Formats: sequence, C-alpha cells, structure tokens
Amino acid sequence: MRIAMIGTGYVGLVSGACFADFGHDVTCVDKDERKIAALHRGEIPIYEPGLDELVAANVKAKRLSFTTDLSKPVAEADAVFIAVGTPSRRGDGHADLSYVYAAAREIAQSLSGFTVVVTKSTVPVGTGDEVERIIRETNPNADVVVASNPEFLREGAAIRDFKFPDRVVVGTSDERGRKVLGDIYRPLSLNQAPLMFTARRTAEMIKYAANAFLATKITFINEIADLSEKVGADVQEVARGIGLDNRIGTKFLHAGPGFGGSCFPKDTKALIKIAQDYDVQLRIVESVLAVNENRKRAMARKVSHALGGALRGKTIAVLGLTFKPDTDDMRDAPSIPLVTGLLDMGANVRAFDPVGMEQAKHELPSITYCEDAYSCAQGADALVIVTEWVQFRALDLGRLKATMAQPIVVDLRNVYRPEDMAAAGFVYESVGRPP
Ligand code: UGA
Repeated sequence: MRIAMIGTGYVGLVSGACFADFGHDVTCVDKDERKIAALHRGEIPIYEPGLDELVAANVKAKRLSFTTDLSKPVAEADAVFIAVGTPSRRGDGHADLSYVYAAAREIAQSLSGFTVVVTKSTVPVGTGDEVERIIRETNPNADVVVASNPEFLREGAAIRDFKFPDRVVVGTSDERGRKVLGDIYRPLSLNQAPLMFTARRTAEMIKYAANAFLATKITFINEIADLSEKVGADVQEVARGIGLDNRIGTKFLHAGPGFGGSCFPKDTKALIKIAQDYDVQLRIVESVLAVNENRKRAMARKVSHALGGALRGKTIAVLGLTFKPDTDDMRDAPSIPLVTGLLDMGANVRAFDPVGMEQAKHELPSITYCEDAYSCAQGADALVIVTEWVQFRALDLGRLKATMAQPIVVDLRNVYRPEDMAAAGFVYESVGRPP
C-alpha cells in the first residue's frame, strides 16, 4: 500500500514509521521545512524510545521518506492520513480544526485515482463529514472515501502501542474504504488485534469517550486517595482490590498529582464543548476536568503542608518535570502548577529531569536546573518526586539524606514504600497512603 501521512507530529511520525515497518510505502509530509530538513538528516524532533532506530531502518529500506510538498505523495497514495495538530482553541476550549481543514483542501487538489482520506488526528464528531464536504467542493471529480481511524497510542510507549494495540477502530461504511484500511492493518492480525469497523461518527466518538473514561478513572482514584489519606487506608491496595474485579480492571488506577499531557486535558475540554453544542451536559466529564485542575494546583500546598506550612526561603528539590516518564513533553504537566505554586509561596526551586529540561526551561525559566537527582537534592529542605522516571525508583537513600538540609520527601507518584523511607530516616509523604 502507498500511504501519505500529513503531519509529522507525535501521531504522524510514529504512525508513518510503523506503517513503513509493516512493509508499506510511506511518505510523511510536513509544511515545516526545518522539521523535514532535520528528518532528512536523521534527527527526530520528538523524544520517543526506539523511534530514531525505527525511522532510520525504514528510511534505509526506502519505505519511508519525507517531504514538504504533498502533491506527489497524495496523487500516488492509496490512503492519505491526516495527522496534523488539533490544539485547544484559544478562548473557548473547542478543538481548533483549522489545520485539519487546510490539509483537506490541499489534499483535494492532488487526489488522483481512488483514494481513502483518513483522519487520524483526534477530531470532534462530524469532522469527517466536513472534511468530505471540503474535498468534494474543492475537487468534485475526486474518487474518494473519507474515513476516521483514531489513534490510541501513548507517548513513551508509542511504538509498542501502535504495533500491539488492544484494537484498531476504523470508521467508514464504504466497502472500498474498509478494504484499503483492512489491508493497511493486515500485518496486525498476526497479533490478533481486533479491527473494529464502525460508522465514521461512531469512530470519532470512540476516541473522545476512551480518553474521557481513562481520565475519569484516574480522577476517581485520585479522590479515593484523598479520602484514604484521611481515613488511614492505602489507596494502592484499594486500587488493586477493586481492579482485580475484571469489570473494573487494574490499569489507570494509579493515584498521583493529576493527569497532564497533550491529550487528556485537551480532549476532555473538547468533549465538553461538543456536548454543549448539542445541548447535552456531560456532568461527569466536567467534574473530572475541574477536579483535575484543582488537584494540580493543590500539589504545591501538599508540599507546603509537609514542611509545616511555611515555604518562604525554603529550598525545594523537584525530581521529574515532564507529564510522564519517557517523553520530553511538558504540555499540561503537573510540574508546572506545582513549581509555580512553590515559587509563589516564596520557595527556591531546584529541578532535574532526565530528558525534559530543555522543554521545561520555556515553561519554568526562573528555577535552578541540576545535573542529576543528587545534585538537585543538595541543601534542599524537601524533595518532591513529580514524574516517576525509572532512574528515580532506586535512589541511594543514604546519599540523598546526607546531601539534604532536611530529610523530607513528598512522593507524588508513590514510588517508594513508606516503611523503607521511615527506616532510612525520612519524613515521608505520598499520595493516599498512611505515612
Ligand atoms: C493518552 C491515552 O492513554 C492514549 O490511549 C491516547 O492515544 C493518547 O492519550 C492520545 O489521545 O493521544 P498519553 O497522554 O500519552 O496517552 O499518556 P498516558 O499514559 O495516558 O498518561 C496521561 C496522564 O495521566 C499522565 O499525566 C499520567 O501521569 C497520568 N496517569 C495515567 C495517572 O496519573 N495515573 C494513571 O494510572 C495513568
């Protein structure tokens, strides 16, 4: 199959490289000349484990190429995937679809022969209809089917998630469209991944409903964590105890500082807006978003509380800045309101993140960036674990304690066991567990 992938962001680049690895002939297109020039030099614009090797191998095998001009790859393609950004629109929280529609208009002009145009970006229900309308208006003779194929990969585990998905959702009622997408995903049938065919609007809805449900699970366990702290229960055991019920499931029940990233905050906001447009109120999702925003802001107060309520002049060491491990992504990271809150309360903040510090400097310019966890902890009155990078899971506790001014650790990801921290002489606070 010949594939044109429009947009070389997270989803576009990972999907393009994985499709090429399946054996398809893929051209990734991006308007950003610098990005394409960097990709030609073999430089990957995002941090994603394994992606550079995957791109290099498929470029070498001549199955993957990059260009700024979509006309030729689109004309030759069996399928054109739209994987451009759909950020939150400034002011109202609706998904900004201007990049998707601009891509549709441009694609329409170059279509030749039967082509399936597929939205892979997360787009509100009904976007496929508008993409189809734009294409037919721009190029009335085009032989085209517009399908939805939402992507469910997670940053940091993107390649694995793409190659071993729980399911692939394809939204189109057109038989020819189903055949092309079925052929593109055929290599996955070896992994027994169910290919679910459904209507286009339903596929669009599935993506938002999935993200909103996962965000709800996280927010639910975060509230149960708050209550567990008060009543003296251990939220991790509560999560395991409920999660072993197959109807609930153990995943996405890890309590923490609140969800962040480029998807959950943006997509829950957009879903609420879609519902409002249809006069439907999604009270649960609205609460999830509000509770999560409050929670992220409350984390600075949690640190202050651990230090007896006064942070002025205190030095706080922050370990982990990105919204989750194995990414350099700082979008909506819980570390941002946390650090901002600490600074507002008069603290000095030192921070270390294994790969996210360059990105973090744009968001948090006025803190001290350190070389590693131990230099970060030097002279600190408290150490806060914000992102659960693997290298923070087995710190030398004796060395850490010796370098700190006060042995206080606030572990927002429950990486350590309270009894081990107590034995090492730390005052230790975590999330939803008795001290
Ligand atoms: C999320 C979804 O998991 C993907 O299926 C989806 O494709 C993606 O959004 C998207 O729409 O593009 P991602 O944002 O990369 O993926 O990362 P997650 O692993 O889902 O984590 C999101 C946030 O939730 C992180 O801040 C993480 O720390 C937090 N989280 C996750 C928890 O606090 N507890 C958990 O149990 C799980």
